[in-house]
Amino acid sequence: MENQRRKVTRVLGVETSCDETAVAVFDRERGLLANRVFSQLALHAPHGGVVPELASREHLERLVPMIRDALTDAGLEAQAIDGIAYTAGPGLIGALLVGATVARALGFAWGVPVAGVHHLEGHLLAPALEPGGPRPPFLALLVSGGHTMLVRVSGFGDYRILGETLDDAAGEAFDKTAKLLGLGYPGGPALAELAGRGRDGVFRFPRPMLDRPGLDFSFSGLKTAVAVALRERTLDEQDRADAARAIEAAIVATLVAKALRALAATGLDTLVVAGGVGANQCLRRELAAAVTAAGGRVYYPRPEFCTDNAAMIACAGLVRLAAGEGEGLPVRTRARWPLDELQAPRGVAAGGPWTGSF
Ligand code: KG4
Ligand code: ZN
Repeated sequence: MENQRRKVTRVLGVETSCDETAVAVFDRERGLLANRVFSQLALHAPHGGVVPELASREHLERLVPMIRDALTDAGLEAQAIDGIAYTAGPGLIGALLVGATVARALGFAWGVPVAGVHHLEGHLLAPALEPGGPRPPFLALLVSGGHTMLVRVSGFGDYRILGETLDDAAGEAFDKTAKLLGLGYPGGPALAELAGRGRDGVFRFPRPMLDRPGLDFSFSGLKTAVAVALRERTLDEQDRADAARAIEAAIVATLVAKALRALAATGLDTLVVAGGVGANQCLRRELAAAVTAAGGRVYYPRPEFCTDNAAMIACAGLVRLAAGEGEGLPVRTRARWPLDELQAPRGVAAGGPWTGSF
C-alpha cells in the first residue's frame, strides 16, 4: 500500500538522465554489489556536446544488457531484487524516458515497487555510499555540468537551496572555456590536466559575483573574459596551459569563497561536495585547505561517485522505497524539477536518520 513502510533489501538503480548509462545494485546490509557505468562520451564528442536523440538511442541499446551484467556482477537472480529506482529528472526527457520505461516494465514483470528519484538527491546521497559518511545537517556544494548550487541538507528529502548559478553551471564554464582553448568535449578534465602544466599569474580572469553579497553564482562573464583575452592571439602550448590555469583558478576561487560564505551564514561546519566538477583535484585541495582553516570538514565522494552513476540513485531510492513510495504504474519523468520541491517521504522524520536504517 502507498506510503506504508516496507522492508526493502536490494535495489536495482538505473540512471539515464544525460550521457551516462548506469546500473547498480545496492544492498542495505552488504552495500554496493554492482556498479556499471557506460559513458557515451565518444559518441557525443564529435558533436562538441551531448546530442539528446543520440543519447536516448544509446541508452536504449545499452540498458537492458547492462542490467543483466549488473545482476551477474552481484551474483544475484532477478528474484533477489525487491525494489527498483530510476532517475526521473531533471535531465534530457527522451533519455529519462528510456530509464523510466525499462525500470517500470521490469518492476511490473518482477512484481516489485519502482520509485522515480531526483538526480540531485542522488548526488546528495553519494557520500552516504561510503562507510562513515557525513550526517545531516550539512552544506552541500553541487557542481555538475548542469547545476551549481549550495544546498542546506537538514535531513533526507529536506533541502533548501541557498544559492545557485544565474547562468552557466561550473561544469559548463569549464566545458565552454575549454572549447575556446581548442580542447574536446567534455572540457573539464582536459582543461584541468592542461592547467597542471600552467604557471600562476600569467593570465588573470574575473571571479564573478565575489564582490557582491549573497550565495548565487554567475559564470557566463568568465567565458566572455576568456574569449576577449584570447582573441587575435596565437597561443603556444605554454600560453594555453597558463590560460587554463587561470580559468581553473577563477572557477575554483569562486566556488571556495561562496562555500565558505555559506558555511559562515548557516553556522554549519560540514561541507559535502557532489557532482562531476567535484572530481577536480584543484577544487578538492583548495576547499579542503580553506574549510579546515575555518574549523570545518569537507567530504568528497570518490571520483566515480561524483560523476553520474546509478549507485547514488539506488541508495536514494532505497530510502524512498522503504518509506512506501513507488506503487502503481506511472512512468514519471521531468526535464525540469526544482530540488526544493522534494519532501521527506512519510515516516522519514525531518532531521532523522539520513539513510533509513542502513
Ligand atoms: O555530474 P556530471 O558527471 O554530469 C552532470 O552534469 O550531471 O558532471 C559533468 C561535468 C562536466 O561539465 C565536466 O566537464 C565536469 O563535470 N568535470 C570536471 C572534471 N571532471 C568532470 N570539471 C573540472 N575538472 C574535472 N576533473
Ligand atoms: Zn549529475
